[in-house]
Amino acid sequence: MERLAWGGLGLAHADDGRLLLLESPLALFPGETVEAEVHWKARHGEGRILRWIGKDGRRAPADCPVAGRCGGCELWEAGSCAPELKRQMVADLFHRQLGEVAWNWHPAPPEARRHRIQLHWDGAALGYHQRNSHVLVPVSACPAAAAPLSEALPRLQDALSGGALPARPQRWELATGTPAGEVTATDERGRTWRLAPDGWSRDEAPIVQQLPGGTLRHGPGAFFQVSPAWASRAFGSLLETWEVRGATLYDLYGGVGFFSALLGRRFAERVLVESGEAAVGWARLNLEALGLPAQCHAADVADWVPEALGHSDDLILLDPPRAGLPPDLCRKLQGAGAGAMVLVGCDGAAFCRDLKRLEPAWKLKALSALDLFPLTHHVECVALLAR
Ligand SMILES: C[S@@+](CC[C@H](N)C(=O)[O-])C[C@H]1O[C@@H](n2cnc3c(N)ncnc32)[C@H](O)[C@@H]1O
Repeated sequence: MERLAWGGLGLAHADDGRLLLLESPLALFPGETVEAEVHWKARHGEGRILRWIGKDGRRAPADCPVAGRCGGCELWEAGSCAPELKRQMVADLFHRQLGEVAWNWHPAPPEARRHRIQLHWDGAALGYHQRNSHVLVPVSACPAAAAPLSEALPRLQDALSGGALPARPQRWELATGTPAGEVTATDERGRTWRLAPDGWSRDEAPIVQQLPGGTLRHGPGAFFQVSPAWASRAFGSLLETWEVRGATLYDLYGGVGFFSALLGRRFAERVLVESGEAAVGWARLNLEALGLPAQCHAADVADWVPEALGHSDDLILLDPPRAGLPPDLCRKLQGAGAGAMVLVGCDGAAFCRDLKRLEPAWKLKALSALDLFPLTHHVECVALLAR
């Protein structure tokens, strides 16, 4: 294998020069030899690694009993090389998509853990799905999750098998606040139970996140940063370095106010747009409680954004879901009046596509990748743009 490429795929070339892309259930070091199942297409091959023949000496034992089978993480066994392997993967993406650009890499601290995990209950077992499959891998502990979530897994399994929680097969989300402590379980219908020493009880109380930018509350099952304290520190110091400030902050795809809380004091006014009505309600309450009142709109960003949004001392911050920005919104943003923009994207390929769509009106000023999702191939890309 030559290297880990974007998407967590192992990249190699066949003897005849054809490209080979292999799904890897574990970290992959350049130079390793593997046995793989390959399906050849017209110009390249795709497949998956079945086993390692020659391993890199830096490979470290995985701290997880289901490493390599569970689809939740792909970078177990990378050990202390994980930040560098991941940096090379992002470098590969930026180089191919954006050419020669300068960018900064922000590796995750070792203590970063997930505060939100999605599990599948098939009527008999609780676990994660294998990568690109619906095959269930039962789990009774998850070292990638915050300790209270991992410890709650057997309690959830018992409650589901014993009928104390709805037994029909479905997806469950386990979540905890910051600092990690109380655990909630939310089913597909949005019903929530809180874990107490004597079992699970129905409880719709919010999850509380005590972060450097201030305390935020949100409904269980709603979007929030997966690793909240690390995300808050990483974005906080990056946007401080970029000297992000101005008159009005347009926090688009604003959720419950994470960025408005983090940056709000550096702007005279704040406008938040988010499609989830419940999230908008929480954003309004959160920002008022922090003394940062904002105009909060429950709307589709693409519909809400006018043709010439903002003035030269305003900032537009966009943090869309994985699919990125709709083409029509990129077109409208070409004519925006704001002087600066921050684009955040958790899918690097969609993020690079959107940067290109925003040109030529918006020029790239600074680019970073934050490892907000350690042990996986996912990263958060962040760009500062100016007109
Ligand atoms: C990646 S999350 C970011 C949330 C927030 N910025 C944060 O950091 O917590 C994307 C958010 O966009 C919202 N969303 C999805 N599609 C939307 C749309 N078309 N218009 C407005 N908001 C949308 C989701 O509900 C979610 O809260």
